[in-house]
Parts: sequence; structure tokens; C-alpha cells
Amino acid sequence: MKNVEHPTIYRKDYRVPPFIVESISLIFQLQDDHTDVFATTRFRKNPDAGEEGDQLFLNGEDLELLWIRCNSDELAANMYQVNEKGLSLTAPGDSFTLEIATRIRPDANTLLEGLYRSNGNYCTQCEAEGFRKITYYIDRPDILAPFTTRIEGNKSNCPVMLSNGNKVDEGELEDGRHYAVWHDPFPKPSYLFALVAGDLRYIEDFFTTKSGRNICLRIYVEERNITKCDHAMLSLKKAMRWDEEVYGLEYDLDIFMIVAVDDFNMGAMENKGLNVFNSKYVLALPETATDNDYLGIEGVVAHEYFHNWTGNRVTCRDWFQLSLKEGLTVFRDQEFSADMNSRPVQRIDDVRILRTGQFREDSGPMAHPVRPDSYVEINNFYTSTVYNKGAEVIRMMHTLLGAEGFRKGMDLYFARHDGQAVTCDDFVASMADANDYDLDQFTRWYSQSGTPVIEVSEHFDSEKEEYSLNLKQSCPPTPGQPEKKPFHLPVAIGLLDQDGKDIRITDDDTLVLELKEAEETFVFYGIEQKPVVSFLRNFSAPVRVKPFQSQEELAFLMAHDSDLYNRCEAAFQLAEQVIFAALEALQAGGQPVLDDQYLTAVSANISGGQNDKALLGQALQLPSETYLAGQMTVIDPDNLHAARNFVKRELAGRLIDKFTALYLENDEAEYQLTPEAMGKRSLKNIALDYLMAIDAPPQEIIDRCLAQYETAKNMTDVVSALQIIANSELDVREEILGDFYELWRNDPLVMDKWLIIQATSKRQDTLDEVKRLMSHPVFSMKNPNKVRSLVGAFCAMNHVRFHDHKGLGYAFLADRIIELNTINPQIGARMVSPFTTWKKYDGERQHMMRDQLERIVNTENLSGDIFEIVKKSL
Ligand code: ARG
Ligand code: ZN
Repeated sequence: MKNVEHPTIYRKDYRVPPFIVESISLIFQLQDDHTDVFATTRFRKNPDAGEEGDQLFLNGEDLELLWIRCNSDELAANMYQVNEKGLSLTAPGDSFTLEIATRIRPDANTLLEGLYRSNGNYCTQCEAEGFRKITYYIDRPDILAPFTTRIEGNKSNCPVMLSNGNKVDEGELEDGRHYAVWHDPFPKPSYLFALVAGDLRYIEDFFTTKSGRNICLRIYVEERNITKCDHAMLSLKKAMRWDEEVYGLEYDLDIFMIVAVDDFNMGAMENKGLNVFNSKYVLALPETATDNDYLGIEGVVAHEYFHNWTGNRVTCRDWFQLSLKEGLTVFRDQEFSADMNSRPVQRIDDVRILRTGQFREDSGPMAHPVRPDSYVEINNFYTSTVYNKGAEVIRMMHTLLGAEGFRKGMDLYFARHDGQAVTCDDFVASMADANDYDLDQFTRWYSQSGTPVIEVSEHFDSEKEEYSLNLKQSCPPTPGQPEKKPFHLPVAIGLLDQDGKDIRITDDDTLVLELKEAEETFVFYGIEQKPVVSFLRNFSAPVRVKPFQSQEELAFLMAHDSDLYNRCEAAFQLAEQVIFAALEALQAGGQPVLDDQYLTAVSANISGGQNDKALLGQALQLPSETYLAGQMTVIDPDNLHAARNFVKRELAGRLIDKFTALYLENDEAEYQLTPEAMGKRSLKNIALDYLMAIDAPPQEIIDRCLAQYETAKNMTDVVSALQIIANSELDVREEILGDFYELWRNDPLVMDKWLIIQATSKRQDTLDEVKRLMSHPVFSMKNPNKVRSLVGAFCAMNHVRFHDHKGLGYAFLADRIIELNTINPQIGARMVSPFTTWKKYDGERQHMMRDQLERIVNTENLSGDIFEIVKKSL
């Protein structure tokens, strides 16, 4: 590392701000090659700050300061100091006004933070610390102020000019220019500020709130996308209704706007009244978007909308509290999606994301608590731990307190904290106080990192008719935390009798045990025969359970468990066992064999008349190589790939009739977007994927796959077939990929799919293909979606090819990270992820990955973003 310092910020250093802001008013003059920003801010000494002195520090980065005035007098250069982090001056009194003029260059902004341009249109991203790239300000979330924003621009390229709140004025200016003034009456932190200006169209709808207020809803997009917004609008209205029904929460402004842009670092952003979205989470038509895209849009639109209360009305005191809004809002969007679609399928998907991404993070060098204690770059902490594990922590409180108790806690949280910037402890205190429930030990979920492990042992005494469960919990050491105290964790269980029926062990079929000690035994009386335990139903806590059940028991649960989540879970565990058995055989140089019992269980599952098709589809899906790798002590990418393929190929070959029947039964002529129809499509496409995995598949199967590609009218079916074809050695492969490109070359989101499909192909030559695609006209290192679709997909989703023993994948990724360091370090830092687990591979691969990490860390002017992750990994 050269030339730059990257200080660490600690949670324990939090101090209340010495000054607060009473109001801010902004003027943006949008010019062709720059923008001038005039900020008038009223400051007051913070009475809560004590004797902090009279030095005021304003954050500001990459700004050209034009002038500064204090109480209307221009300040001479010796009255203030400016460095690359900000501006400081001595306050002239307890209350004063600063006017600051800065010049910024949105056109040159490739960081996509602050004010930038996407396809010529202006937009902003201020969370977490982007506002300081617009003007000098106290850019921290506990400074809340009402904003007034005046935008001036050309009528020709900026007919639309938007900001937070309500439009209060607009009019003409000279030289073909015009202005618009927006006022947001709700005091907000600067990270929720937004400005959008450009040549945009909108669709409009209305929503009547439960108290009868009429809200105008608009979605703004480029003209070419105007037909693709209906699903997002429908999702928004559903989310607004759901939040009223489930939490009693009503929207507060008169207008709610969503804007879709193609260049965006993350998924979307909840700016007050003006959400800005990655177009991936807005635009959809059946012919361009898959069922997963539709579900993603519904979930993300809801997520950002829900932030209006959990995030905006009540916000975070400091960035260490990020999970206060993100964990809670993810939990809320998961529950919303579960209510709109299939609840067990939603849970399976959410748990899969947690176990693949978060468990991996929790076992590596970046492991951190849900409420981190320190960071170098806050953008690196928008993690699966803060979001997804954070949501699990909220879910556990929901499980412990029940839906009603949880609602009482939410009501108290808003009653106490509306309009404030608060902490995770404040949230837990509301839950505890509203229910008179002790959550003291529970708060360890916020402070301790690492994934707890539960060991289960069962004992059955037929004489006494007693069944007992002995549970031990432990948590492996993580960076900075060698030892852990026991967690308070809800363990939901059911006991199945020999017929597979739930034994009533409480008023309910499911019982929630509260495990608080390192070891506890729970005894059940009056149990006549040895039951089969359905353990950790609905995944009631984010833990690893040491496998303790036999294949027979798992097959039994898979067939009978009344908890549909656990039925699938049993299928996954069984598949995992079978794949690892094959892996062992391969590693020992032998031939793997497929266990008959497993085959019978899968076959029975298919014939089981499962009426939730989506759920059966889930149960049939083998765990991914990335997930399986996370379960191994020394990862062996080649044999892992071969073992998983072996199981897939064998299953397909031996159950060919069943998979063929599944395909035909679920091939619907008519396209619908209901959960049932989506379930059928997924099942059909999984069946096709199995069938095509057969060694030299019969011609009729190949024909079916090709026919599906050619005739399908919806993108789900088209890409499912295309993905299989791209993975194959079929002669028509190139031609079909070319055909798809010609058809969709003008649709960036479809082109993302085209890139992902090629980047994740398991063929030997994939890396060469990825390198070729880097110079293809549709690819750009400046567009995060493209980087994720090509570089990200290859390195993070193509386990066997990225980890090719020659190490060329490693060198490729390091080159891209170094390139991104100057273009968009935030995205660059995200790309480091596949390297972080380098210690889990064999010596040779370790060596090669470490060399690349060292090469990155020695890059000149390395950004804090990339530095932090690489440094922690080494
Ligand atoms: N708050 C946004 C959300 O809804 C995420 C924005 C984060 N952006 C960033 N650059 N760190 O999840
Ligand atoms: Zn969020």
C-alpha cells in the first residue's frame, strides 16, 4: 500500500454532534460540463453536546470550493481550513448561517456516489457518505433537517427535475432553462437526499391510504422503458396496503416517486419520497424478465417502500447501527413476499441466501457482528451479515414474542422514536418493554460474530416413555473474538410418530424451545414410541446444526414433515450427504455409486403428489458448489464439481421417466404470473435441466430443449433452455448464443443475462470466453450490472472454473480489481469476495490466491474500500 492512509473508525468513539442543523436549502445549477451547488445551512450549537468547543467540521470530498459566506459575509481564506476530507472553521456564535458554493463534475463521476449521470440523466446516491461529494455538510445520519431544493436546468435535456418531498414551485428561466423547487417537511439525514433530472417519462397511479388520503404514485424511466413499469407499480401498491394491514403504517407525503437508472452500485435506495432504483429492480415484461426478476422487483420495491418508516421516520444514530434499518426492513420485505407468494418457498430462498453468503462471510476474515465495532470503509459493511443475519435476528424476536407481541414492540418503537436517530439497543428495548420480556442475553446476537453450531443428541427411554433432547451450543472464534458467550436462541421443533403425524407436545404441533445455556436437556413425557424429531423448524435460528439424523430419518421427514420448510431441508441434507459420499469415493480414486435409498426417496418425493410445485422444485435442486464448498475443511473444486455432477447425472438417468413426466405435466401453454404458474415453470425447467444432464441425452430430449428455446414466449423458459445449451457441447451452441444476442442487444438487462449465462458455463474454455466478452461492445467496466454479470458471475458463481488449478482465474480477477480501483472502488471491493476464503483451499491454490492479494494490496493509490477487505484477508 502506497500514498494513502486508511484510518479505522470505532463505534466506541461515537460522540453527539457539537452542532446541529436547523434547515438546509440547496440550489443546483446543472450545466453542460459541471454543476454548481449553493447550500444555505442554518447551524445551532447542540445543547446536548456539553463543552465541545466552537470548532465546526463539515465533511466534503472531491469538491471545488467557489466561496463561503457566514451570516452573509464572505469569509476570507484565513478564516477556514480545507483539506481532502472537509472544511473546518470557528463558529461565530451559538447560531449562524453558512452559504457555500461548490462546483462538482457529475459527468466525470464514475464512482456513482454523490451526483452523477446515467445515460445522460442526473441522479444521486448519498447513502452512506455521498452527500459530502455534493457540498460541505455535517454528513452523518444523526443530523436531521428539513431540506428545500431548487434545481435549474435546460428544458431540452432536463424536462424533468425531481427531489424529495413536494414540488412547491416551478417556472421559466432565460436561455431555454427552467427551475423546480421541492420541499421536504420531514427532517432527514443527508444520506436520504436525492436529486433526479433528465429526459424521463412516467407512469402514474394513485393509492388511498387507510385514513383516506390520496397519494400520487409515479415511476420515472427513459422513454424506451415506459411499457415495463406495471409490475413495479402493482408491487408498490401491494406493499403500501400490506404495511397498513400488518403494521398500521401509512404513507406520509402526498407523492411517492420511483426512478429507474441503469448505472447503480446497489439494488435501490430509499431516499425520502424519491426512491432511486437499479433498473433491474423496476423493469419487466414477460418476454424480457424471468419469474425471479418479477419476484425480485416485488421484494425490492417493497423493501424500499418499507424503509419510509423503518429507516426514514426512525433512522440510525451512526453507521454501526445500519442493521437497525436494514435487518428490520429485510425481515419486513421477506414477510411481505411470503404473504404474496408461497411462504415455505420464500423461506427456503431466504435461508439459502443466508447459508451461502452469510455463513461464508461469518467463517472468513471479514466476519463481523450484526452491529460492527469498527470499519475502514462503511460501504464494505452493507453485507449479508448486516442485512440477512440482521433479518434473522429480528425474526428470532418475532418467534420469541409471537406476532402480536412483535407488533406491540413495533408500536412502542415508533411511539418512542419517530423523528429520531437511534440504536439497535433502542429497538430491542422497545421489544422488551412492550412485552415485559427479558432480551438482555438476546442482545449478544448484535455483538458476537460467527455462526453458532448446535450439537444434538437424542435419548429415548421406552420404559419411562421419555424422549429427551440434549442440545449443546458453541461458536467458533472470529476475528477479534476468540471466545463467545452462549446465545439465547429459539429452537422450534416437532416430534413425528411412526405414521409421520405430529405428536402434540404443546397446544401446537411446533414447540419453541429456548436454548440459553451452553448445554441443556429438554425432556418430553408420555412418548410411547421413539419419535423422529423435526429439528429447527422453519430455520428458527441462524445456526449450523451438526448432522445427527440417519438417511432413513431424513427420507421420512422429507415425506411426512408437516413443516414444509423442514421437508425441503431434509431433502437438502440428504443430497448433501450423498454428494459428499461421492466426493470421498472420487478422492480415494474410486468409482462413486448412487445410494438406492436416496434414489427411492427422491423418486417418492416426485410421485408424492406434492401440490406446491415450487416447493417440489426447490427440494429437487442440489445444493450449489459454492454452498457445498463452505461445508468442507479443505476445498477440492474439481472433485466437488465431479461429485455433484455425478449425483445429478445418475439421478437424471435413473429417473428419466419421472423427470420426463414432470416436464410434460408442468409445461403450460398459457403464461401466467401467479405463484402456482411460476411454481410449475420452475419445476418444468428443473426437470429439463436434469434430463439434459444425462450422459449423451436422447435426441428427443435435446429437441425439446432446443424447441423450448425457440418457441417460448417468456424469458423464464427462454433463459432456462439457453443456460442449458450454453453449458453443453451442442453444435448449435454458438449459433443460438448469437441469435439471442441479435434479438436482445438493445436491452441492457437482457444482455446482463446473456453475459451471466456465458460466464457461468461449466465448459473448460469459459475463462477465455469471459476474456473475449470483456471487449465486446455490450460490456463496460463502468456499469456495475455488467461487471457483476461477467466478472462477478464468473468468479463468484462458477466455482470450478474460477478455481482452475492453473490460477488464471485468480490473475484475471486481480487485474479487474486493480482496474476497478480507479473506476469504481466500491464495486472493486465487492469483487474481492471470492479471494477471502483462500485459506480453505489446498496449498498450491492458497499460494496463488495470496500472491494475487499481495499484488492488489501493493497497488498505488489503493482505495480504502479495496484495501480494507484485502488487508483483512491476508
Ligand atoms: N439503503 C439501501 C437499501 O435499501 C442500500 C444503499 C446502500 N448503498 C451503498 N452505496 N452503500 O438497502
Ligand atoms: Zn435497505
